[in-house]
Amino acid sequence: MKNNKFYHIYTYGCQMNIHESEKLAGFLEERGYIETKEPNLADVIVFNTCCIRKSAEEKIFGNIGAIKPIKKKNPNLVVAVCGCMAQQSQMAETIQNKFPFVDIIFGTHNVNKFGQYLDDFNCKHEKLKNIEEEIQIIEGTPVYRTSGYNAWVNIMYGCNNFCTYCIVPYVRGREISRKPQDIINEIENLLKTKKYKIITLLGQNVNSYGKDLEDNINFAKLMQKIVELPYEFKLKFMTSHPKDLTDEVIETIANNDKISKAIHLPVQSGSNRILKLMNRKYTVEHYKEIIKKIKDKIPNATITSDFIVGFPTETEEDFLATCELIKDVEYNSIFAFMYSKREGTPAAIMEGQISDEIKNQRVNTLLKLEKEISNQKNYELIGKIENCIVEKKLENDDEYLVKTDGGKTIIVKDDNLNLLEFVDVKITKISKNQLYGEIVNNGGTNEETITNDATISQ
Ligand code: SAH
Ligand code: SF4
Ligand code: F3S
Repeated sequence: MKNNKFYHIYTYGCQMNIHESEKLAGFLEERGYIETKEPNLADVIVFNTCCIRKSAEEKIFGNIGAIKPIKKKNPNLVVAVCGCMAQQSQMAETIQNKFPFVDIIFGTHNVNKFGQYLDDFNCKHEKLKNIEEEIQIIEGTPVYRTSGYNAWVNIMYGCNNFCTYCIVPYVRGREISRKPQDIINEIENLLKTKKYKIITLLGQNVNSYGKDLEDNINFAKLMQKIVELPYEFKLKFMTSHPKDLTDEVIETIANNDKISKAIHLPVQSGSNRILKLMNRKYTVEHYKEIIKKIKDKIPNATITSDFIVGFPTETEEDFLATCELIKDVEYNSIFAFMYSKREGTPAAIMEGQISDEIKNQRVNTLLKLEKEISNQKNYELIGKIENCIVEKKLENDDEYLVKTDGGKTIIVKDDNLNLLEFVDVKITKISKNQLYGEIVNNGGTNEETITNDATISQ
């Protein structure tokens, strides 16, 4: 007989979804459960779902189905499904019908009630389904953090933008901001422990933070208050919507060493016609102006973006405009996604849906283009100085792995570095896509810092 109780959480989505898994784990840890990587050994299995693209949903269905034999062997196993997919009431019903062995179903707005659901189920053994329309912010719930020296912190929930391809506003509700003091208290408590060196603020559109609050607060002012905390750390944030990125935010980033210069500014398309159909509320010209401002004010910025290819009616000409924009901006890295039809969104019923074959071709073209630019940018890095965090001592005794602000790893030789300290590193060479460098000084930041990173995912 085993004495310990184990849990396993499947996580599928964005950083917000990952952080919600940390909150779910918080409730489980609080009740004495221990994490296991082996679903076979678990007493509680949670599927924290995502529905941003069809591919995510298909994977989730496969994974839930695979639990059936485990549940058969261990009828005491508790299976819960939550997150964005479960938030759609029709989908919640489908999950119930397709997988009758699922015990608890709840949506994104009920994450903070998971502890209560689990207790109720363990007490009464009655199946439970709860999906609420609006989120209520509950402060002070437990979090079991799993992201190393990075700590995720929600500053707001929901999205008001209704980009026509996107399911998020339907499964996350309207924007609601946390109170600045609650955010600052959480961050101060994290920093006090000295375990966290990066704080990443989360919101679907962090630039509209505070619009629903009465206090004289906005995203720039919030960042300013946070960096005044007397600890050594870097402040990151995601995601920024170009339409709301103000000059004040750019200035605040430029003027504070503690604020990361990694700016993820998803543009989605380089064609004005497609941007309009997507309801993105900016033009390519406006976007380029913002990029120019960022590059002028923050010369060491790492700029990244998301792209959707094969949005309904996207022509070869529209797609070429996207390629032109990528060449023009010279992103440090991009994420390219094939448009995925999401039921209930306006784009799903637009005429002119594009075939999978064309979407595939276009995503591969972006991949190639990105590789060319990123290779070039990697070489341009040689001789530049980067402010990095020391992540790991390598097996070769005097080698360390350090990470740049933009997420790139560099191998440096040194006989005496402390893990998790910030150091300035001069990049000396690149070999087989790996960067090498040397320490130029310990601590502080350097004005010349430049980062490049190149990844692409489908
Ligand atoms: N709030 C953020 C992130 C949204 S989801 C933002 O606005 O940028 C992350 C990315 O998924 C989006 O930037 C978009 O590129 C992609 N995405 C969203 N819906 C999609 C869909 N239906 N098909 C393909 N990609 C999609
Ligand atoms: Fe989706 Fe647009 Fe909101 Fe981002 S801003 S979550 S893409 S609706
Ligand atoms: Fe995130 Fe997926 Fe929901 S990307 S907001 S978990 S639909």
